[in-house]
Amino acid sequence: MHAKIAVLPGDGIGPEVISESIKVLDAISRKYGHDFELITGKIGGNAIDEFGTPLPEATVETCNASDAILFGAVGGPKWDHPSMNTRPEDGILAIRKSLGLFANLRPVKVYPSLINSSPLKPEILSGVDMIVLRELTGGLYFGKPKKRWATSRGRRGVDTLKYSEKEIERILRVGFELAMGRRKKLTSVDKQNVLESSRLWREIAIELSAEYPEVEVEHILVDNAAMQLIRNPASFDVIVSENTFGDILTDEASVLSGSMGMLPSASLANLPGAAGANKTVSLYEPIHGSAPDIAGQGIANPIGSILSTAMMLRLSFELEEEASAIENAVEAVLSEGYRTPDISADGGQTVPTGQIGNVISGAI
Ligand code: IPM
Ligand code: MG
Repeated sequence: MHAKIAVLPGDGIGPEVISESIKVLDAISRKYGHDFELITGKIGGNAIDEFGTPLPEATVETCNASDAILFGAVGGPKWDHPSMNTRPEDGILAIRKSLGLFANLRPVKVYPSLINSSPLKPEILSGVDMIVLRELTGGLYFGKPKKRWATSRGRRGVDTLKYSEKEIERILRVGFELAMGRRKKLTSVDKQNVLESSRLWREIAIELSAEYPEVEVEHILVDNAAMQLIRNPASFDVIVSENTFGDILTDEASVLSGSMGMLPSASLANLPGAAGANKTVSLYEPIHGSAPDIAGQGIANPIGSILSTAMMLRLSFELEEEASAIENAVEAVLSEGYRTPDISADGGQTVPTGQIGNVISGAI
């Protein structure tokens, strides 16, 4: 097949992990005879330096003209001061919002060969296989008012947690549909004992559950969810939550997989698998950030980005066999003992970032 992919490496370790994903994509093209046309765009801090904005118009055009987007990471200490009025992160937030990518799928699984890399006990990790579905274009991230201002009694700041019925319903529906294709259990996370938006969320979840009688629905408070994720992670199948809650819970959940560097994600504007869903532009990115502290040292873990590339092949291009080929190659390379430092607690052979893409490509 022929497809156009916008490649946005960004800042910090973003370009390093994206390079490895591209090697893997090339290996897939060679083996299966596909023609992926890659168009690189600037985003984040380096775009601020060059164009004065984290999301230049040319990047927006590249994304709109593409079939899918591969994104690395943005941010860094250079642009991190609280007084900055434009930030690298605004670039990715603006793409998510403008393409309507409300559904962020973050699968979390445990690789048998990495069980000893996790600080958790092996018996807690066995059987962990879940998807955290994070609402991505609403909630605290985008609600207005959102500002800082000075008053005669000191400075103030406000963020707003606001959701419409439509926004809650569409993300919960994706959650129910995902659960239907899996173990039929949905955990809806909220903070309904305190927040009005959460009370609305839970009300709609209860109403919608009538349409999915086969799905077992569990409603839990976000603080309890944070604890259960570590105490009994294998009990989860699909977890669905508000934007900020999902951001926090997935960093926590990545510890189950061994490292932040392991988790991929897909950001979609439609129900996966719905008619025409693959016609809209989706974005694929690892859940980790730009990790400026380790950038440029060749020690970043590119597996989260490589697995995001597999998700792209599956969800945007319906290339199931190719997606599985990448996932199986990742698994093979891990069981052969190849490691980046973040997943090397159990020994194995630590190799530079730039070799991980080669060995995974070799295994394809
Ligand atoms: C993530 C990241 C982003 C987010 C940042 C970089 C804006 O933490 O994708 O989880 O908060 O959504
Ligand atoms: Mg995050």
